[in-house]
Amino acid sequence: MKPRQIKDGIFWLGSLDWDRRLFDALIPLPDGTTYNAYLVQGEDKTVLLDTVDIPKVPEILEQLRGVEKIDYVVSHHAEPDHSGGVPAVLERYSEAMLLCTEKCKAMLMDRFEIPGERFQVVADGETLNLGGRTLEFLHMPWVHWPETMVTWLREDRILFSCDLFGSHIASTDLFVRDEARVFEAAKRYYAEIMMPFAKLIAKHLERLAPYDIQLIAPSHGSLYDEPAFILDAYREWASGKPHNLVVIPYVSMHGSTRMMVDFLTEELAERGVGVMRFDLSEVDIGKLAMALVDAATIVIATPTVLTGPHPKALYAAALANLIRPKAKYASIIGSYGWGTKVVEQVAAALPNLKVEILPPILGKGIPKKEEKAALSKMADQIAQRHREL
Ligand code: FEO
Repeated sequence: MKPRQIKDGIFWLGSLDWDRRLFDALIPLPDGTTYNAYLVQGEDKTVLLDTVDIPKVPEILEQLRGVEKIDYVVSHHAEPDHSGGVPAVLERYSEAMLLCTEKCKAMLMDRFEIPGERFQVVADGETLNLGGRTLEFLHMPWVHWPETMVTWLREDRILFSCDLFGSHIASTDLFVRDEARVFEAAKRYYAEIMMPFAKLIAKHLERLAPYDIQLIAPSHGSLYDEPAFILDAYREWASGKPHNLVVIPYVSMHGSTRMMVDFLTEELAERGVGVMRFDLSEVDIGKLAMALVDAATIVIATPTVLTGPHPKALYAAALANLIRPKAKYASIIGSYGWGTKVVEQVAAALPNLKVEILPPILGKGIPKKEEKAALSKMADQIAQRHREL
């Protein structure tokens, strides 16, 4: 794609990756993604903010063909989907200095062996005068690596926000036009990589509150020319209370565990508690992660395989443990044939969750009167606790 003008002297560069279906060899990308870079021209200096992923470097070099001079390259984040083109750009523009945080410098040297003399480390709050335009660098660690920062373009009131507020979505919309579609993609993105740092993100949102932002230009997805849409969503995701919602990731081999899940679902619904279920044998983990942004309770349902949990249930537990949702309660249910150590192993996989574990329910074979009574009691407990949220 050719460069696209955002306004006079400010351009989108980058790449639309329509066909990419997995990120980090883990995260499903149903809508592809974009790698956004931006060119900002002042009266005296020209700056390139970020680049693209390594396979897309020829695209950005082509987009820069008519640009004679770049004085600075800003690297907000060392992850190669944005820094992949930095070495090639520095090679073409031999006078350009690379601006980033101290930690980012170390990471870029490790990853790309960029010589130390090409770097100019920027302090938190430091400004750079381009001539009629001023960049202000704001260190914002842990969105979602420790070295990250964002850039505020003062006169134009544009926030170049790095991965923060991003969405994995390949779209020809330079600016967000389909808010419902972008909301889902941005929430999926938040759930998968930002949620573990929700408290820090809430602090970053507070820091940004005094800035009169006219446009948010993230590193993935369309730009927000109505920034309140995504700022409000992030406030809710990072700081909002958990919803009256139970998420049940489950797997069933011969149907008994599914019968328990069915029964519990009915019991919760009768008590006015929302339920989202995810069959782990064919789940899109992005959808599961999105549900975990809101859920107050997680119930992992698994059969016993060779005395332990089904590996797919452990995978779901490991995922929940990694992304650290705000859930307050958790439990484990499932069926077994002759013996089980499911509870110990699933609970041990969740050390990062600050949850009260409700009494687990494991039954031999299909759920009978006793297990159904226990599941009804679990539904009572969950409904009661959700009312107190
Ligand atoms: Fe889009 Fe964390 O890189």
